[in-house]
Amino acid sequence: MSRKVPNFQQPTTDHTADVVIAGSDENDTRAQQLALSTNLPVVQGDAIATARYCLLWINDKLVLRDKTTSQINDICVDFSEGRQRHRQQFGGGQGQPLARAVNIKGSHQPHICDGTGGLGADAYVFATLGAEVTILERSIVVHALLADGLRRARDHPETSAIAQRITAYPADTCKLPDSWPCNTKPAIIYLDPMYPRTRKNAAAKKGMQTLQRLLPHDTDERALLNAAISTATQRVVVKRPLKASPLPGPTCVGFIRSPNTRYDLYRGRG
Ligand SMILES: C[S@@+](CC[C@H](N)C(=O)[O-])C[C@H]1O[C@@H](n2cnc3c(N)ncnc32)[C@H](O)[C@@H]1O
Repeated sequence: MSRKVPNFQQPTTDHTADVVIAGSDENDTRAQQLALSTNLPVVQGDAIATARYCLLWINDKLVLRDKTTSQINDICVDFSEGRQRHRQQFGGGQGQPLARAVNIKGSHQPHICDGTGGLGADAYVFATLGAEVTILERSIVVHALLADGLRRARDHPETSAIAQRITAYPADTCKLPDSWPCNTKPAIIYLDPMYPRTRKNAAAKKGMQTLQRLLPHDTDERALLNAAISTATQRVVVKRPLKASPLPGPTCVGFIRSPNTRYDLYRGRG
């Protein structure tokens, strides 16, 4: 698939005032390179101790440390860890509701854009099933974690072929179709906007709880859906909690259910 030179609007960075990069010393080139690509400050010593969120490397993994809670709360992207591997082996292949929602069928492999990339778990499932995936993620902090996870996955013999099918960009999906980075528009755009945090879903996985605390609450769901519909050539899929109302905007043309989740389907007009 050919790619054109991306012409992105700067993704949202509101939340980054609370995030620092922990540098081991002033010559820490890895930290300096991350600072260049994210515009986040590199700090040392006491400034690390007082930061609310800190990006640091542990055994070659880029980790986001959430220091706003008393529990140890580190998140990183690791496609070879148990949960992801379990999902790969036992997730149900092409028969699983997620695969049916994005229309992966037999040898039919649509180009999928994951327009709300997050930590890349759903995108990795699409790539595991053989699809080419373009991820857009507007948080530069989350994108940095994702890019680091993909770098390690490309270097690992078990995950390399899958990770080669994924490309991640720091970009705001609401700015589509103008900022679409490839020459050909995607057949499918998949959206998984953050659910509002309620008592009922407070048991969200640790990583997702940290993202819920760190990231601004999504208030532009209508714009997100409209931008996706005007870009995808075949279908837009929106992941929702089973009983939640659909996103505001156009009416969906169908849905696919799984025990806890509903995938709302919209016709693409790209
Ligand atoms: C619930 S998480 C997605 C989780 C993801 N499906 C996974 O499997 O890890 C939502 C993500 O969407 C991102 N996001 C929200 N609105 C966006 C937008 N307009 N453009 C790009 N990313 C967006 C947020 O920054 C957040 O990382």
